[in-house]
Amino acid sequence: MKSLKSTFTLHNGVTIPCVGFGTWQAQDGEQAETAVRAALEAGYRHIDTAAAYGNEESVGRAVRASGIDRAEIFVTSKLRNPDHGYESTLAAFDLTMRRLGLDTLDLYLIHWPNPAQFRDNWQEANAATWKAFEELYEAGRIRAIGVSNFRPHHLDALLKTARIVPMVNQIRLCPGDTQDETVAYSRKHNILLEAYSPLGTGKIFGVPLMQEMAAKYGKTVAQISLRWSLQMGFLPLPKSTTPSRIRENAALFDFELSQADMDRITGLEDCCGKASDPDKIPF
Ligand code: A2P
Repeated sequence: MKSLKSTFTLHNGVTIPCVGFGTWQAQDGEQAETAVRAALEAGYRHIDTAAAYGNEESVGRAVRASGIDRAEIFVTSKLRNPDHGYESTLAAFDLTMRRLGLDTLDLYLIHWPNPAQFRDNWQEANAATWKAFEELYEAGRIRAIGVSNFRPHHLDALLKTARIVPMVNQIRLCPGDTQDETVAYSRKHNILLEAYSPLGTGKIFGVPLMQEMAAKYGKTVAQISLRWSLQMGFLPLPKSTTPSRIRENAALFDFELSQADMDRITGLEDCCGKASDPDKIPF
């Protein structure tokens, strides 16, 4: 990976820029729109949003107003929990596209495998949802389809009826929260891992080993953490609404962590919180 424009290749051949700009907790309106504009100006070409973030309109406005060729920007959104099911997925997708103001979506993800509302029949709900995803993909309305927060048992269930293997699994991945079983399972099935909260939602900055590494490499803790993510083969999705940090989080390509330092960071335990249990989320 040499720059923000370098790509991973998904199992269907679609290429995806190697760092995505995360917009979770970026407020709809001025804040999200300004942040996405700053990210595009800093060279990001991959923007990650979700219906549940409530900021698709702002993200779409910033993408459309950027003047950058649409084909150069990779846009991801996600299906909200209440919208699982075949018909409701088709309707939710249309709404997402209307809010984004785009003709095609680059990547659409099932946001959570086991919403509270579908807890008694999440397998059937995901199978029906995925059927709609496959049809939208085959109709050319989405360039790639995937999942988020899926653990091996959720993927196992999905693959029983899926005709198309998900291209992506977006999960929480940061030092101290490496979700080893899900990572191994996803890799075995050629599913690219995207890392949300790659800075542990801000908790990474207080970790002494990360501060030591930042001093050693002459980089910031954020840059060490994001570089670790890339060298792990993950696609990090750092979130910031601060333009200077947005630029800082993009400067990852002029240094490399040694294998020994990678191993030390990978060995961190419980330093930045853990992913929510997708079978227990209350939403
Ligand atoms: P802010 O958006 O106010 O700039 P994660 O990507 O793991 O969810 O982490 C996001 C959090 O980390 C946000 O609170 C964000 O703050 C903060 N953050 C992002 N980049 C940096 C950075 N380079 N330095 C310090 N804090 C950062």
